[in-house]
Amino acid sequence: MKAIILLICVSTFALADDPDYHFSDDFVFGAATAAYQVEGGWDEDGKGESIWDRGTHEHADWVADNSNGDVACDSYHKYKEDVQLLKTLGVDFYRFSISWSRVLPTGKIDQINQAGIDYYNNLINELLDNGIEPYATMFHWDLPQPLQDEGGWPNRATADYFVDYARVLFENFGDRVKHWMTFNEIMQICEAGYSGGSFAPYISNPGIGGYECTHTVLLAHGRTYRLYDSDFRADQKGQIGLAIDSYWHEPNYPDRETDQQAAEVDMELNYGWFVNPVVNGNYPDVMIERVAKNSADEGYPQSRLPVFTDEEQAMLKGTFDFIGLNHYSSDKVYFADEGAGDHPSHWADTGVIGYQDASWPGSASSWLKVVPWGINKMLVWIKDHYGNPPVLITENGFSDYGQLDDYDRANYYKDYLYEILKAINEGGCNVVGYTAWSLMDNFEWMAGYTQRFGMHYVDFNDPERPRTRKLSSYVYNNIITTRHVDWDYYPDWPPAEK
Ligand code: NOJ
Repeated sequence: MKAIILLICVSTFALADDPDYHFSDDFVFGAATAAYQVEGGWDEDGKGESIWDRGTHEHADWVADNSNGDVACDSYHKYKEDVQLLKTLGVDFYRFSISWSRVLPTGKIDQINQAGIDYYNNLINELLDNGIEPYATMFHWDLPQPLQDEGGWPNRATADYFVDYARVLFENFGDRVKHWMTFNEIMQICEAGYSGGSFAPYISNPGIGGYECTHTVLLAHGRTYRLYDSDFRADQKGQIGLAIDSYWHEPNYPDRETDQQAAEVDMELNYGWFVNPVVNGNYPDVMIERVAKNSADEGYPQSRLPVFTDEEQAMLKGTFDFIGLNHYSSDKVYFADEGAGDHPSHWADTGVIGYQDASWPGSASSWLKVVPWGINKMLVWIKDHYGNPPVLITENGFSDYGQLDDYDRANYYKDYLYEILKAINEGGCNVVGYTAWSLMDNFEWMAGYTQRFGMHYVDFNDPERPRTRKLSSYVYNNIITTRHVDWDYYPDWPPAEK
């Protein structure tokens, strides 16, 4: 019986004669979560309200299982247990996010919540005491509601408030946190939050809201980086990056020139949009041109894409110590004959149609098909376009419905990590580390708790929120400790001890 299970489960992507590449000793491995998705304690000890608190409370029926993050994994109380899970997993670092409203309940520095500072101090100290480096994300989508009441990210003043908040973080935690990510997935913050209205604050303003939001966010990122340079870097000696998500966009017919161009346009308008300003100081030329042309055709007096001044471009250029990459899946793309999407919209500005090949294995998330070679091409594209910057993979993972013998997740990690090894060894890519999403099952935004990404199962029906190791946690640990992908390794299952 066991032999049959193994046969079925062995990764479909491995070839017997693939080289046995190894991760170098300085390559770091981690696991990730985010505040709203795991902490709970949504209004405890002086925490203020965030847009996700407000959104899920006001529109419970918009979330798949009518749930919210009020309690989530209860990490606000159970962080010590989380740290033990991380320790057993064998990771070098934990990527968590800081809830702005827990630290600054109004979003502004007029009120600093000492209990919030204490919570993150306790978490950071507990991690360090257990030999795990804290990697902190400053903003993983949970904007303080009072700042949304003033317009949220499309309001340029939000950048001022963010930089004030960042200073509080550097002052309180920068002596121990040496890796910072300013923002997580600007595409989701801005396009989903302010263009499409599918994520909090659920604002629908296609073709405009996402661009205005992104402009403020990028300025906030750049100014935070410069603040670190001027006031903290010499003492604290840390690194700052940001986590940008992207599919790999593959030409529909790889040999067809127009499909190749469509893929390039799609990469620039969906990924270069955020990374080019940070590396080179401005939006990609092709994006500036396409949005300007569409805006003119639509009768706008000026481009819907905001403009960085020369001074802002100089400020933004080079504001990264590493590029964080959140990557899960890929699609195939081609130019739409009649234009893509309604006008105005970011999608119409790309002019590109994407789809996922029916032969690609699926997951519990409709958007997540398993395409391991996509991460390889993505990494090579980054190397070629931005001068081979250090890339930290800040998220990668697989969703299912919660089974403990999660062979599909384990194989996903094996297949994607092997493609990363190939990108390093054959593509010459400067990949410095890898973060598995996620340490444990958690609140998957509009999917609630129906889609699970964890290497640990969390029982959300039990008030104690017990965590249980899944099979993938053993496989990830094996990769970390052996520094390579052992295609044959699976733990005995079920495990003898918990
Ligand atoms: C992207 C986000 O950063 C994270 O919050 C989310 O849960 C995962 N990817 C999976 O969708």
